[in-house]
Amino acid sequence: MTDRPDTPDAAAAGTFDLDGETTVNRLGFGAMRLCGDDIIGAPDDEENAREVARRAVEFGVDFVDTADSYGPGTSERLLREAGVVGDAVIATKAGLLREAGGEWLPHGDPDYVRNQVLVSKDRLGVDTIDLYQFHRPDPDTPFADSVTAFAELKDEGHVEHVGLSNVTVEQLDEAREQVAVATVQNQYNVANREDGALLRACEDVGIGFVPWFPLAAGDLGGVADALDAVAVAHDATRRQVALAWLLAHSDVTIPIPGTASVEHLRENVAAASLSLSDEEVARLTEAGE
Ligand SMILES: NC(=O)c1ccc[n+]([C@@H]2O[C@H](COP(=O)([O-])OP(=O)(O)OC[C@H]3O[C@@H](n4cnc5c(N)ncnc54)[C@H](OP(=O)(O)O)[C@@H]3O)[C@@H](O)[C@H]2O)c1
Repeated sequence: MTDRPDTPDAAAAGTFDLDGETTVNRLGFGAMRLCGDDIIGAPDDEENAREVARRAVEFGVDFVDTADSYGPGTSERLLREAGVVGDAVIATKAGLLREAGGEWLPHGDPDYVRNQVLVSKDRLGVDTIDLYQFHRPDPDTPFADSVTAFAELKDEGHVEHVGLSNVTVEQLDEAREQVAVATVQNQYNVANREDGALLRACEDVGIGFVPWFPLAAGDLGGVADALDAVAVAHDATRRQVALAWLLAHSDVTIPIPGTASVEHLRENVAAASLSLSDEEVARLTEAGE
């Protein structure tokens, strides 16, 4: 990318204030991909995973997404071992179980959530979790009961901020009756904007919107040609343009591209310095509709 710094700098993406209090750079990092295959267990090269986390922070990333269920436990452990926990806001989650075959099983039982916060605090080595996200509503537990557990954990000082993930606008409204919601994390990218109404709801009240799958794991399908055309004009890559679009599309987005590669990390964070014109943003928005 011409006219941009050699060392990527996440700060170039601008900042967002979680709950109006905790300021983070808007280009974050998703630490799910640090785990082994199927997000089960450790990767073959653990030191590489720790190095990716360290380099993310070196590149100015100060918002790192993880979850107790990534591994389970592995992603949180690697972040602590990498030494990045004090240098970045760590956004972890509870509410999903794993089993050895790779299934993700919703489990929003309040007692379980209260147990998991202690596990995550110990694994991360912190007294307070920076941002604790309810990973996914559980059909077998009333949503309000799960949210009550998160609200209590905030009141009791176990967690600083509360977030939601994989929710509807209605569930966001319901949760806000009990607790301040700092972030909402749902699947969203230039090629998949099904949760546009949720993004707008977050914009209306200043909640951070954390789009997971921001690169569609590289499969940006129908929008690929439009992304490539913009990328050529900026001497950038398709993925960088996809991230720059997410940043330009709304002031409350905090993309968390995931990778286990330092080179891919470098490419992704460099997207923070990529400025798209209003016309380019509009063209990409239209291409993804
Ligand atoms: N709340 C939820 O339910 C939920 C669900 C899924 C994910 N998440 C979070 O969201 C984060 C991001 O989502 P995601 O990791 O699924 O999807 P993503 O960020 O869209 O894509 C990650 C995938 O793309 C590849 N990739 C990344 N950068 C690349 C680059 N510059 N060039 C080529 N390939 C690249 C990665 O492989 P390499 O390792 O080879 O780079 C990885 O397989 C996760 O890490 C996790 O923290 C949350």
